[in-house]
Amino acid sequence: MNVSRVGPRANDRTQVCRPSTRAHMQTIGFIGLGAMGTPMAWNLEEAGHDLLVYNRSDGPTEPFADAGIDVADSPRAVGQQADVVVIMVTDDEALAAVLDGEDGLLIGLDSETTVIQMSTVTPEATEAAAQTVQAQNARFVDAPVSGTVGPAEEGTLTVLAGGDDDVIDDVEAILAAMGEPIVRCGDVGDGARMKLFVNLLLGDMMSAYAEALTFGAAQGLDLEAMQQVVEAGAVDSPLFRIKGDLIAERDFQPRFPVDLQFKDLRYANEVANDVGVQLPQTAAARESFSAASAMGHGNEDMTAVLKYLESIADVTVER
Ligand SMILES: NC(=O)c1ccc[n+]([C@@H]2O[C@H](COP(=O)([O-])OP(=O)(O)OC[C@H]3O[C@@H](n4cnc5c(N)ncnc54)[C@H](OP(=O)(O)O)[C@@H]3O)[C@@H](O)[C@H]2O)c1
Repeated sequence: MNVSRVGPRANDRTQVCRPSTRAHMQTIGFIGLGAMGTPMAWNLEEAGHDLLVYNRSDGPTEPFADAGIDVADSPRAVGQQADVVVIMVTDDEALAAVLDGEDGLLIGLDSETTVIQMSTVTPEATEAAAQTVQAQNARFVDAPVSGTVGPAEEGTLTVLAGGDDDVIDDVEAILAAMGEPIVRCGDVGDGARMKLFVNLLLGDMMSAYAEALTFGAAQGLDLEAMQQVVEAGAVDSPLFRIKGDLIAERDFQPRFPVDLQFKDLRYANEVANDVGVQLPQTAAARESFSAASAMGHGNEDMTAVLKYLESIADVTVER
């Protein structure tokens, strides 16, 4: 996984072989052209799908319009025109706004439509969304993704699919244009559960790594030597390698921002409370991300959880 490079599929659009006719192509409506949604939508276009895009604010749709791709003016219009709708927005509230807000998707939803929900939201919000979609005889797939902007550009996100097998089978080529593997997690809601499972681990690991680096730096340990020791031993992981190098460069450009990691740890703690599981480490990690956000680092990469710890210890982790 390379989080910093721009994927060749995102930049090399001219070399894609397109089918000679799109007469029988399904139209895919993509809602939410953020850091993840934009490369995912481009990958769908590059795979030859007929694309229609919508974003709440206008800026992110401009490159698509410039490339001759249709831009819808509301989620409702997407539902009216698309055969398959992909949603990639921030959180439970954003998903509700897309579905039920003014000119929301549900108003225009055709009974033949399949909605693929790919945002990281709670299992509860996922199941509620599925119910409202299915109440209109449309179909629903729960499909959040693991991986960040680099894998989104490269089309190598891990897709965490939940729902009826036949419905997932029907959209598998669409999911495959955005990621692989496609992991079948169970019913609708289980994709969201799997996503919170893996992001709980991600947030806990990031927070623990930031704590260890701050602990070492405060005692005068050399960053490169600390990285070498981690990478040579049983605690080595791609996360520590990638994030360690970015920290060494003091590069906090957002790939997966502090605020989104905080949201996911908040959701994990809420679900844990519902199912009677104690998550002491995750609760502590959530507080660290919350503090980093409160200090103004919410839009920086999740590595900026380090900045909160550094400020308390009055130390900088650097080479
Ligand atoms: N970044 C990652 O590494 C990563 C990896 C895996 C999963 N995810 C998850 O994927 C989702 C998207 O992440 P991202 O990084 O692409 O986030 P982002 O760059 O912040 O984009 C968020 C998108 O949601 C839209 N949105 C927010 N509130 C909305 C509302 N009320 N109504 C309609 N649209 C709304 C935004 O529209 P505007 O442009 O108008 O604000 C934007 O298109 C999140 O659930 C995130 O947790 C992220």
